[in-house]
Amino acid sequence: MKPILAPSILAADFTNLGRDIELINQSQADWIHFDVMDGHFVPNISFGLPVCEAVHRIARKPLDVHLMITEPDRYLEAFAKAGAAHITVHLEACTHLHRTIHHIQELGCKAGVALNPHTPVQLLEDIIADLDIVLVMTVNPGFGGQKFIEHSYQKIAALKELIAQHRSHALIEVDGGVNEQNTPALIQAGAQVLVAGNFVFSSPNPTLTIENLKNTVVS
Ligand code: DX5
Ligand code: ZN
Repeated sequence: MKPILAPSILAADFTNLGRDIELINQSQADWIHFDVMDGHFVPNISFGLPVCEAVHRIARKPLDVHLMITEPDRYLEAFAKAGAAHITVHLEACTHLHRTIHHIQELGCKAGVALNPHTPVQLLEDIIADLDIVLVMTVNPGFGGQKFIEHSYQKIAALKELIAQHRSHALIEVDGGVNEQNTPALIQAGAQVLVAGNFVFSSPNPTLTIENLKNTVVS
C-alpha cells in the first residue's frame, strides 16, 4: 500500500502561496497539511482562519488541519466552516478529549489526536476506537525543519498494536523531520500518512519529491 502523502504548507513560500497550493493540486499528494500555532501551546505563531479559508477556495485536496493551540474547542466550528476536512487536536491540550472528538465528527470532519514526543500511546486506550487519525509528532511541535526523533519507530509500532487490539480504523500519521531516508522504516513500523514540510518545499523539484515519497519502496 502506498502511503497517504500530506505536504505541510508551513514550509511553502508565503509570498507565492497560491502557486504552492496549485503545485500540490497537480502533484501526487493526497492531503494538504495545515499547521496552526498560537504562541501558547507551542513557542511559535503560524497562520489561522483567514488563511485556511483562502487555501480552501483553491485547494483540490482535503485540508488536514493540525491545531497546535490551547483550548482548541473554541475554534472547532470556525475551522470546519473554513474548510477543514480533518481536525487534529493535541491530547496535551484537551481536558475533555472524548467530547472534543465527537464535536469534530458532528461538524462533519474526520477527528484526529496528536501526541507530543513525550506522550505515551497508551493514554489513547479508551478513545482509540473513536478516532479517525492519530498523529504521532516525530519532532517537538512548533517549527519545521527539525531533526527526526529516532524513538518514534517504537512508538508507531506500539500504536499499530493498540489500534489492532481495539479494532480501530484510525490512520497513523507521522509529522516532523520526515524525509526520503526515514520513510521506508516509518512505513514498515506502521505509518500510513506522511507529513513532509521542508523536505518537499526546500527540494529543487517539490513535485518530484512528492512523487518519490509517495512511491517509496519498502523492502
Ligand atoms: C511541526 C509541524 C509540522 C511541520 C513539519 O510543528 O506540525 O507539520 O510543518 O515540518 P518538517 O517536515 O519540515 O519537519
Ligand atoms: Zn503538523
